[in-house]
Amino acid sequence: MKSNGLLFFLPVLVWLLTYCSSDKKVDQQAVKEELKKREIKKIPEAEIIKKVYDIGEEIASNAQKTLAKNLKSAIVSGGVENAISFCNIKAMPLIDSLSKQYGAEIKRVSMKYRNPNDKPNELEQEILEAYAAQLKDSTSLKTNVQVLDDNSFLFTKPIMITNPLCLNCHGMESNGLTKETRDFILTKYADDKATGYKLGELRGMWSITIPKKKVVLSM
Ligand code: HEC
Repeated sequence: MKSNGLLFFLPVLVWLLTYCSSDKKVDQQAVKEELKKREIKKIPEAEIIKKVYDIGEEIASNAQKTLAKNLKSAIVSGGVENAISFCNIKAMPLIDSLSKQYGAEIKRVSMKYRNPNDKPNELEQEILEAYAAQLKDSTSLKTNVQVLDDNSFLFTKPIMITNPLCLNCHGMESNGLTKETRDFILTKYADDKATGYKLGELRGMWSITIPKKKVVLSM
């Protein structure tokens, strides 16, 4: 009777043991993943924000350099009118690959915008006004990071008219923008506000929204 009972319980015991141990394996995996998540969360916010500054700077400075290079070669090869379409960042493969790499939304905005898509939103307007005020005070303009929500940051970097090249299309008749170019621009951007600039003025800013997840993953 006793041995019979053991014979009956043995398979149950074996089943129980395997069930428990396989369950444990799953649990261990889950625990590991949870720990990893917490590890990610443990990175101090200040370090994450520092990384946002680095990523934003990398994107903005690369984009700015490529833009100026493209504009210059387009003007040299075909004149100012030919180059008009080269000040559009949408057509830059580099911007495309950077935005994919960091899941970032890369824009330029300006209070005196040429393309209506570059009109600043409320927060961008505030930052632009702060930059303009700092410039007036002769404070050197710096990049800025704002926490948008739990999941994303906004990196901004001022865009200055530091290159006489820009005046060909953003200046005025006395410093480089011819009447012909002005008229040509107006055929494409009827409501253009982006002229009348001088060297040293604030033209706008890079406005780059970066998801927190991508920032943390790149650390
Ligand atoms: C050959 C003409 C040309 C030159 C030179 C040029 N731009 Fe532009 N710029 C444009 C055009 C056209 C647009 C609108 C592009 C678009 O539709 O996205 C523009 C748009 C911009 C914008 C986006 C805001 C807005 O007004 O829509 C910024 C910022 C800007 N330019 C800065 C510069 C700077 C800085 C330089 C000098 C390095 C420069 N541009 C040189 C033609 C030019």
